[in-house]
Amino acid sequence: MNALQELEGINSVKELESWRVHYLGRKGELTIILRGLAKLPLEERKTVGAHANEVKTNLEGSFGQKEQALREAQLALAKSETIDITLPGRPFPIGRLHPITQTLNEICDIFVSMGFQVVEGSEVEWDYYNFEALNIPEEHPARDTMSTSWVDFETEDGQRTMLLRTHTTSVSARIIESMPPPIRVVEPGKVYRYEASDATHVPMFYQIDGLAVDKGITMADLKGTLYEFARRYFGENRRVRFRCDYFPFVEPGVEMAIDCVVCNGKGCRLCGDSGWIEILGAGMTHPRVLERGGIDPNVYTSFAFGIGIERLPMLRYGIDDVRLFYGSDLRFLKQF
Ligand code: DAH
Repeated sequence: MNALQELEGINSVKELESWRVHYLGRKGELTIILRGLAKLPLEERKTVGAHANEVKTNLEGSFGQKEQALREAQLALAKSETIDITLPGRPFPIGRLHPITQTLNEICDIFVSMGFQVVEGSEVEWDYYNFEALNIPEEHPARDTMSTSWVDFETEDGQRTMLLRTHTTSVSARIIESMPPPIRVVEPGKVYRYEASDATHVPMFYQIDGLAVDKGITMADLKGTLYEFARRYFGENRRVRFRCDYFPFVEPGVEMAIDCVVCNGKGCRLCGDSGWIEILGAGMTHPRVLERGGIDPNVYTSFAFGIGIERLPMLRYGIDDVRLFYGSDLRFLKQF
């Protein structure tokens, strides 16, 4: 019979409901037949009636079975989809700041707390700001100490004047020119040297330069500021040492060292038995540098410093190869 065949093929509750309405509903086929019985002669009414009732019972029974079967199938599906809340969650990989970025942030925080402002310059720079304005004219031997990556760009008269900055001191040259004193800035960023990589050199690394320009600034301000920085970064008991050094853009120029973090000044392999480790260059900004930038050196004085960033976490954590920072090895990076 048609109705039973149809029922067989049904596999959704919705289809089942329309099947029920069609065959067993109040306006359904069977109901109409049963209602029509009254018009038939008695004999016929009996046989047709009995038959129709039998069919009705039959269909209702099959409907019930199908309904049950569908419900069970649904339940089974729902069960198979339930979440096992006792399973441990999948670990979600969480990123973090690169150790050099962390160091930069920490150093900026130290200087910001002393009243310095953080400024940034461009990594592609003119020869003028990287050298010329800093008292390093062409042919000056200081240029040889900074192997420069030149940008493939020539002026009309064939001069190559664009480079990847070799130090963040170029930002100081720009600040002197553009910011009216009093000035207190630190200038973090990437710098580039045309050099092969080894345990202490990479062609791209980070520096932070600092510059203070004001009336009455002296060497004592420089020493106090940098001493405070060293103690905050390396710890309260750190000692510092200043010695004369030469940088064309400062006069006098100094290098600052801290007592060795490994041997505490007794002398070991790390500090080359000297007990001291140099961590930065500094000095009183050369009057010519101020003058060239439009600041009158008879009115204002200034100190400046430049720190290589990678050295700092290397000393603090005992890392012996700078290349580790740039090797993208997560086993290394995840430790910070
Ligand atoms: N620019 C120098 C370098 O890269 C470091 C330096 C020395 C920066 C003395 C300064 C400074 O601002 O006063 O070697």
